[in-house]
Amino acid sequence: MQHFEIVGGNRLKGKVPISGAKNAALPIMAASILVEGETVLRNVPDLADVRQMQVLLSRLGVKSHRDADGAMHLTVEDEMNAHAEYELVSKMRASVCVMGPLLAKRKRAQVSMPGGCAIGARPIDLHIRGLQALGADFELVNGDVLLRAKKLKGAEIFLGGPFGSSVTATANVMMAASLGQGKTVIESAACEPEIVDLANFLNACGARITGHGTPEVTIEGVTSLTGTEHTVIADRIEAGTFMVAAAITNGDLELVGARISHMRAVVDQLRRIGVIIERGETGVSVSSARRLEPVEITTQPYPGFPTDLQAQVMTMLCLADGNSVVTEKIFPDRFMHVPELNRMGAHLRKEGPTVIIEGVKRLVGAPVMASDLRASAALILAGLVAKGTTHISRAYHIDRGYERIEEKLAAVGAKIRRVDD
Ligand code: UD1
Repeated sequence: MQHFEIVGGNRLKGKVPISGAKNAALPIMAASILVEGETVLRNVPDLADVRQMQVLLSRLGVKSHRDADGAMHLTVEDEMNAHAEYELVSKMRASVCVMGPLLAKRKRAQVSMPGGCAIGARPIDLHIRGLQALGADFELVNGDVLLRAKKLKGAEIFLGGPFGSSVTATANVMMAASLGQGKTVIESAACEPEIVDLANFLNACGARITGHGTPEVTIEGVTSLTGTEHTVIADRIEAGTFMVAAAITNGDLELVGARISHMRAVVDQLRRIGVIIERGETGVSVSSARRLEPVEITTQPYPGFPTDLQAQVMTMLCLADGNSVVTEKIFPDRFMHVPELNRMGAHLRKEGPTVIIEGVKRLVGAPVMASDLRASAALILAGLVAKGTTHISRAYHIDRGYERIEEKLAAVGAKIRRVDD
């Protein structure tokens, strides 16, 4: 295993290229199951999760490779297998995105229940309910979800759950309904930019989707989809993470390729905290006004503040001048970073789905443990600003969702290196 070693205290300055969005790339790769001919995807980040999706797709008969320019080519070569096994699904929750495409194209989808993960229980009832509404029969077989349908028929589907809309359930229903008969209307659809990117990809393949980016998405089924070329949008979560990195190190970064229009809630909150964010020539420029103000943040589905940036922004609030309150409304148990940040000198108190953050003057380096992807990012950020050296174990968590993070940070002045345990 590997860990990160960070010596804190350096100001970050320079340009950081923002990679393609993991959460857009994964469902779009899964959507290649639906299409005839070749799919070519540009700006797919080189991440452990992306490679994991390539392994899963290859078991499902979809061959993929990267060309010399880094573009990913995917082609369906064999449609016999429709079983995503536990061994693969348990490693990556986004594997569930093959469910809708398999059902629509191969009439059958057997997908292992993903199970729990470090950020809490993550059910898939909305996925199943949505696909059943399109006419699929559902059974649970040895811990696998088995869905079968000779034909999928358009329907009106409400996809809201106890915590709001579901991103990957919206993706699954949208993909399946694209090859269904007639019209499907999804109410309480997820509005995330990654869903819009998926819909744009499907439409470029011949699908007839409208309303994407709003809570009401309409899909007119078509009989076939044809492979196309598509460029994946920039990763707003990676961009937000680097915004925090610039702000807490009193730095000045230009995030090349980042799009403010996908990050309004984040930009609004960071500006309240005192971060200076402006549209730059090639992306977004970020610097800090030295004094960080405390704020109250509640995570919500898009366009609200994203749960995927909650941990990183909490690191910044540890150093604010006063008390902040962060409430998690999407994954109420997503606070694995709290005890680790406290080990670095933060004053955090968890009360149910809320954390009260008493700002401190400084964080101090310590050995800490990464527990999930975004919590790991929060600890890296803490290490950048902490006094002394921080060791963050289990680097593999960060590799799931950040492309070459240590190289990108080192290139703008951070003292960070990857070390074999
Ligand atoms: C996606 C993102 C993930 C992000 C999350 C919330 C991808 C690949 N992953 O995950 O990075 O943190 O959105 O923005 O895009 N829920 C149910 N029943 C379901 C499905 C979800 O109750 O069938 C609940 C979840 O437990 C959670 C909430 O709905 O409380 C939102 O989850 P969801 O949007 O589905 O998350 P993912 O799509 O798994």
